[in-house]
Order: sequence, then C-alpha cells, then structure tokens
Amino acid sequence: MKVIVKENYDLMSKAVADNIINYVNNKPKSLLCLAGGDTPLKTFEYLVKAAENKEINLTEVKFVSLDEWVGLGPATKGSCVETLYTHLYNKLPINVEEQVCFFDGLSNDLENECRRVDSFIESCGGIDISLLGIGMNGHLGFNEPGVNPELKCAVIPLDPVTKTVGAKYFDEEVDVQAGITVGLKHLLDAKEVILIANGEKKAEIVKKTIEGEITTEVPSSLARNSIDSSIYIDTEAGNKLSK
Ligand code: PGA
Repeated sequence: MKVIVKENYDLMSKAVADNIINYVNNKPKSLLCLAGGDTPLKTFEYLVKAAENKEINLTEVKFVSLDEWVGLGPATKGSCVETLYTHLYNKLPINVEEQVCFFDGLSNDLENECRRVDSFIESCGGIDISLLGIGMNGHLGFNEPGVNPELKCAVIPLDPVTKTVGAKYFDEEVDVQAGITVGLKHLLDAKEVILIANGEKKAEIVKKTIEGEITTEVPSSLARNSIDSSIYIDTEAGNKLSK
C-alpha cells in the first residue's frame, strides 16, 4: 500500500482529487465508489471545481455510493444519500438518474437492495476506484471490525464505536442499528483502492492500518492485500507512524 502524506487536509484532498481526475480522464467509462462522511468533503469540492473548469470528463462515469444507515433516507440531513447529493452529485454535470446508484436505506427489502447494487457493480465490470474514509475503528463503509471480507453488498449491525461517532452527522438524535454497505469483496477488488484520513484523532487507526497486523478486526488493514492501494493522510493523521 502506498502511503502519501500531505502537509494538511486541503493538500491531501487536492492530491486525492487529482488522482481521481487522472484516472477518469484515462478511462472515461469508470465506476467510482464514493464514501460519505466528513473526510471526502474537500475532495468533492475539488472534483466539482474540476468539472466546472472542464478538467474532468464525467459523461460516461458511473457512481455507486458506498453505504447508508438502515432506516434513513434523503430527508434526513446527514444521511449518506443526503450528504453525497448535496456535496457532490447535484453539483456535477451528470444525469443522476442514469449515472448514480444508491442504496435505499428506507427499503423494506434490504436483501433485494443488496442484490440490486451487486448487479449494478457487476454490470459495470467491478469498481474502478473505491474512495474510502477510514472510521475510528478501522471500518470501511459499514464493514465493521470482524466483518467477513468475502461479503459483497450486505446489511451489517453497527459497531458501538460507529453508533457513538455517527451522532456527529445528525442535527437530531437518530436510532440507527445497522448499515447497508458495499462489502469488502467489491471494495478491495477495485482497480484502485484509496483510503483517506486526516487529523490527530485518526492517528491511532492510521498506524494500525499501515503498520499493524492485517486482520478483519481492523478492516482498513485489509487494503494492504489489494493489488493497487494507497492511503492519503495529512501530517496529523500520520504522527504516530514509526517512519
Ligand atoms: P469520517 O467517517 O470521514 O466522518 O471521519 C469515516 C467513517 O467513519 O467511515
């Protein structure tokens, strides 16, 4: 896994966006799997800017969104769907109906949701880029510690850390017990796996991801087994690394 350390969050985000822009311009028919959460927000700003400046060709790109809280949908500010549409999809020159695939966290047939998104990913020939924020517990999407790495799309009970940390996204208290997520099988088989983390609070999990044991207890560490993976961090997130 390549480790790319940038001086601050802004430079880190710019480098991630540049990587995505180059990839897509070389392969316009790409499938991007994009995380919600706070970490990718600045990368999204750079992607929007690149689209406005016509520096990225998005006409043939497809997007699959990484995950959703079970029971939440677009009406809840802070849900994954609301975050991605507000900060990215609605600002890009794309046809969202045709180019974006999203889990419906409100569906009463979540199993069917999983199979629908599996089919979408498979019909695109797999994921080109997985862009994944690392959770405080090392989760990727809702692939929580102890997850089966062979899972494709799945519904997964939330780890206690995820429930606690998750409160930061919502203005009101929400009762969430599970997440629906693209599984590690799809994510880590992507042509490029990009992990991102910034800030002092991520330093410990970044160290485990890069230097600790490769274990399902730290799902982000499994990215080290991917054929092409990189982790972009800022200096604060890297300050516990031994070198
Ligand atoms: P964050 O979330 O980007 O808001 O830190 C990452 C995660 O928990 O998946």
